[in-house]
Amino acid sequence: MADPRNTDVTSQGEGDNNLSPNRLKWYKNQNDPKTRRLLADDEKYFLKQSLSTPCLSAIKKAEGLWIEDTSGRRYMDFHGNNVHHIGYGHPRLIAAVKKQMDDLPFAPRRFTCDPAVELARKLAEITPGELGRVLLATGGSDAIDMALKLARMVTGRHKTVSFWDSFHGAGFGGSSVGGEELFRGQPLGPMLPGAEHVAPFACYRCPYGHQGRDGKANYELCDLACANMVRYVLEKEGDVSAVIAEPVRAVPYIPPPGFWQSVRRACNDAGALLIFDEIPNGLGKTGRMFSCEHFDAVPDILVCGKALGGGLLPIAAMIAHPDLNQAGLKSIGHYTHEKNPVTCRAALTTIEIIESENLVDNAATVGAYALDRLKDMEQRHDIIGDVRGLGLVMGIELVMGPGDKTPNIDTADRILYRCLENGLSFKNSMGNVLTLYPPLITTKSDIDHAFSIIDQAISAE
Ligand SMILES: Cc1ncc(COP(=O)(O)O)c(C=O)c1O
Repeated sequence: MADPRNTDVTSQGEGDNNLSPNRLKWYKNQNDPKTRRLLADDEKYFLKQSLSTPCLSAIKKAEGLWIEDTSGRRYMDFHGNNVHHIGYGHPRLIAAVKKQMDDLPFAPRRFTCDPAVELARKLAEITPGELGRVLLATGGSDAIDMALKLARMVTGRHKTVSFWDSFHGAGFGGSSVGGEELFRGQPLGPMLPGAEHVAPFACYRCPYGHQGRDGKANYELCDLACANMVRYVLEKEGDVSAVIAEPVRAVPYIPPPGFWQSVRRACNDAGALLIFDEIPNGLGKTGRMFSCEHFDAVPDILVCGKALGGGLLPIAAMIAHPDLNQAGLKSIGHYTHEKNPVTCRAALTTIEIIESENLVDNAATVGAYALDRLKDMEQRHDIIGDVRGLGLVMGIELVMGPGDKTPNIDTADRILYRCLENGLSFKNSMGNVLTLYPPLITTKSDIDHAFSIIDQAISAE
């Protein structure tokens, strides 16, 4: 039997199954000598880990929404780890970062610097409500840890409520509040104490059993059972520090109307903070600067990252309500690169590019166009059970056929590799959802091109 420590045994969560037969076939077909050598060396020198190894291919170029592998094959990148909002290698960003390296390459902790202060001011300006007190980190997982620590400081409580199937980072904080077996299952545990989970909103497959007869969401029937469960758990536990979640789930799933307002009220009533993880979807991806702006719910703490570094440098931020400025006597995120002027410059310039190129509006317009096209595709293919989208966060859920919502995992896996062969890269979530996250610079004609690849790949079934 295969050793589970070295194989990807489940993988029906966040990512693709790295060891499916289609993946192995794809891997074997990488015939370019340079690519083969790099892949072999990657296998030789890196520790194996689920979702990362073995690699798909090796990259030699990343530009705009395109990546190119070492064999010269070009792919539209509809995944990009959500770092590529402004497109890879934006010339203005690269120039600003080079200049910053010349002007001031580093600021040791205990000192501040101009780009860090400018960035904090900018983050306060673009985040909703009164959010305005900032701490910076090098990655999303660290920023989530800071948010969890701050919630403990402010409330004097340690418990959290979060969603099963969610992802909030690979560190112990993120893995504890995250709900994915790959990151938290034995022997990795025990995780942080008091990390309670509830079933999330997932209208197409409502875990509370409230689909209508046609299998679609039925809000009258459900009466927001998913939000009521958050309130129920907060009341029963009685001493929860925070609810932490992504406003729009990565699968993707868009919350039912009123969900976040209801959870916001439940948090207020229970004395718990609300933390929004906007690491992938913040900074414009959903067609608003932050995805929570669609739902009229302002969190106490907002965390962003990924695209904040413009697809060039790693930086993440936690932005908290000024009333939470209560951790002065403890260290909650005293990281080495806390106020690195180069990463701060990258973040500041990225936000300036998003604003000056109207990329948030573009995400809204192109996303609305794309959703119409997805709905059209849904009409034409029996194996599409549902399509979902908000801005440039989109998903196509594959099922066995009309009246049979069984997740069509094998087909989704085949389609993923067929699309890769034809120059489109994306990720599958939960095994059967083609998850499409193009950058904010995507045009309608990019959507046409990408969707024709997907359409053909589905038609070939
Ligand atoms: C929702 C969410 N939270 C947190 C993280 C962790 O961010 P990082 O990989 O920068 O640590 C991710 C990364 O994929 C994410 O998607």
